[in-house]
Amino acid sequence: MRSQLPDFPWDALAPFGEIARSHPEGIIDLSVGTPVDSTPEFIQSAFRDSSNSPSYPVTAGTAELREAIRSWAISRLGATGDFDVLPLIGSKELVAWLATIVEAKKILIPEIAYPTYHVGALIAQAESIPVGIDSVQWPSADLAWINSPSNPTGRVHSTQELMASIEWSRTNSAILISDECYLEFDHTAQSTSILAHTNGDNRNILALHSLSKRSSMAGYRAAFMVGDSALIAKIRELRKHAGMMVALPVQNAMTVALKDDEHVAQQRARYNARRDALRPALEACGFRIEFSNSGLYIWCTRDEDAWASVEWLAQRGILATPGGFYGEKGKNHIRIAMTATDSQISDAVRRLKA
Ligand SMILES: Cc1ncc(COP(=O)(O)O)c(C=O)c1O
Repeated sequence: MRSQLPDFPWDALAPFGEIARSHPEGIIDLSVGTPVDSTPEFIQSAFRDSSNSPSYPVTAGTAELREAIRSWAISRLGATGDFDVLPLIGSKELVAWLATIVEAKKILIPEIAYPTYHVGALIAQAESIPVGIDSVQWPSADLAWINSPSNPTGRVHSTQELMASIEWSRTNSAILISDECYLEFDHTAQSTSILAHTNGDNRNILALHSLSKRSSMAGYRAAFMVGDSALIAKIRELRKHAGMMVALPVQNAMTVALKDDEHVAQQRARYNARRDALRPALEACGFRIEFSNSGLYIWCTRDEDAWASVEWLAQRGILATPGGFYGEKGKNHIRIAMTATDSQISDAVRRLKA
């Protein structure tokens, strides 16, 4: 199976990292979207308080965590009807393993997308088919991924688009999983969860959420899914056998994080201020910004090969990601992540203006 996996794309970026590092004022890395703002102190404290943890944690999650996810799914996502919840060891592992767990053989993925959807299909030895947003055009399949707000484009699905993908799932009796890990980071577009549009019939529908960005907890590996109870029961059963359980201190940290919205509002304001600062500076350098209304990234182009844009920025000490990492259609775009400190973003703006 290993031989089928693509080369790790980030290795191709390393030479441009070297160019950026040789800038007299050092590198500003806006490539990998890894959070840099501290995990809020009250979350760290919940983690520390449960560091005495001699017993195995439960795969399904503690009663407190399950209840925190449930309440959040109702109040924040608008979930209705019968649904279940399941904590995950970060959402990437679920993205990579879901197709294998549910034995999907034909999988639809967005044509410009987070690369792990395709990797998950490779691991499952399944066929992955890149598709556009309009689900009326989608072929039949066992499973489809959607991602709103999108990594890398920051595009937000409209209510109509979400409802059409639910319709596709019902018509094809296929699983629809909506990766909503950037849902909390709205800017000029309002994102809604797939679960707000099912009218309480959540069969074959799953929503995937992560605390990596929402609560700056990427190092904790903390995520969860919400949706179809029968499907989640099946996934939970397999995970019990495979030992895929979230560490208890992490479960307790997740519980307090989900009960607080204030730190999320602060983080949203930080990312949006950084986007507002970078946007005009990039435009002044000839970049045209597309989508980027929500989420964590600016998606832009100078209508040239992405590697040329990456090199131009690297010469100014700024590292960006070439859009080709996310699909053939992205090969003339670059992705810029808001995951740098405010002072690094100000420096990047200054370098662009110079
Ligand atoms: C769209 C998308 N889904 C899932 C993930 C995985 O995040 P995590 O494993 O930290 O929850 C990422 C990470 O960047 C992502 O961009």
